[in-house]
Amino acid sequence: MPDSSYPQFPPDFVFGTATAAFQVEGSPHADGKGPSIWDVFTHTPGKVRGGQTADAACNTYADPLPDLDLMKALGLNAYRFSVAWSRVLPEGRGQVNPKGLDYYRRLVDALLERGVAPFITLFHWDMPQAVQELCGGFVGRDAAYYFADYAETVVRALGDRVGHWITLNEPFEHAVFGHFLGTHAPGRRNPWACFRAVHHQLLGHGLALDRIRSAAPQAQVGLTLSLTPILPVSPGDARAARIAEQFFCDLYLDGIFKGRYPDPLWRQIRLARPPVKPGDMDIISRPLDFLGVNYYSREFARAAWYVPFLGAWVDEVETGGREKVINGRQYTASGREVHAPGMYTLLMRLKNEYGNPPMYITENGAAFTDTVEDGRVHDDLRVAFLKSYLDEAAHAVADGVNLKGYFIWSLIDNFEWSQGYSQRFGLVHVDHATQVRTIKDSGYWVKELIARNQAAPAAAAF
Ligand code: FCB
Repeated sequence: MPDSSYPQFPPDFVFGTATAAFQVEGSPHADGKGPSIWDVFTHTPGKVRGGQTADAACNTYADPLPDLDLMKALGLNAYRFSVAWSRVLPEGRGQVNPKGLDYYRRLVDALLERGVAPFITLFHWDMPQAVQELCGGFVGRDAAYYFADYAETVVRALGDRVGHWITLNEPFEHAVFGHFLGTHAPGRRNPWACFRAVHHQLLGHGLALDRIRSAAPQAQVGLTLSLTPILPVSPGDARAARIAEQFFCDLYLDGIFKGRYPDPLWRQIRLARPPVKPGDMDIISRPLDFLGVNYYSREFARAAWYVPFLGAWVDEVETGGREKVINGRQYTASGREVHAPGMYTLLMRLKNEYGNPPMYITENGAAFTDTVEDGRVHDDLRVAFLKSYLDEAAHAVADGVNLKGYFIWSLIDNFEWSQGYSQRFGLVHVDHATQVRTIKDSGYWVKELIARNQAAPAAAAF
């Protein structure tokens, strides 16, 4: 009898966790690594909560194996992690640093030994500082070409043992937080820079796609977008919600799947548009093998005359909402609403409007305040969160969505960008002073989820 407390997925469904290099590795200067914009940003006073840096992070560059053993113990099938561009190419281009590449080779081999499939993200926001200085990072068109060269270098080294490649992680966040709002590296506040960073990231993705395929013809290649349904705050905000949804989601989805940028947004930003050269949209819209979807919560948008070009914005998180229930809605410690049905709405939209590509949830998870008591972490809110979101994903699969797997953000508590270590997203608690790991109740719940799913086909055979 299927147990309804553990959602059921098809037998070959992939269960994984995700991290990103800058958030976990630490060792920013080890073995010839060059600085990234995030090293510079986190060392700039006032940019990160409490002045924290990721110099130590979760120490996984110095000592990756304990976490890989944890993945094996939890029965996880896959691990999504990112390569730090400036470990492989300290100057962002040119001379390869063999020690940097070797670290990822050892990591991949150790994963494979434990039966965990690597899914590698090539760009999770840590632009080499050298490329930033050379051309403004992705604000400059040249960065797209440097990125494609770097992607090929990594895939030539690891492509014989890695099946899944993700070119970019969340180009929206890198463009908008990094270049429009200034809350992420490189800390710019310039709409023109932002839209150039959008286009050049996507161009870099398309260029890299070809180079990855030529280096590893059997590779499955995709990219990861942060996607969310966006609703109007009031009926009068319907147009604002449409603009916001296009700004957050369709700009990327339409570029990739339709080879054009969406109206009315594209018309509305005409004075801030990036230069699009003939042929760019063909490169950007080359077919993907899969789409990576990061979904955390739905958003609400309203008209906002003061936001340049857009005239719309999403509702700011009420600080009072952090980790509380307000008007019947549960909020996480990072102030996001817990809203599992949005997962279903979003996946059905991708099925109906974007051709139902093979998809992975490449990130989903929640931050709550977790404490270790007698060697246990009773994170009931996270267990409830995961169950409700995975239920909606299973519902979408039952309704024909081509979802192949689900990666929880994150394996371990880590460095949450401008929020420092304040946001704990892990299935495994990390004491940041001692680096001691403690599996949370949610980790044990995921272990049971996987066991119940993967035991099912074998049991059915008897
Ligand atoms: C996503 C990022 C990831 C992590 C989670 C919480 O936007 O891709 O690195 O910070 O949010």
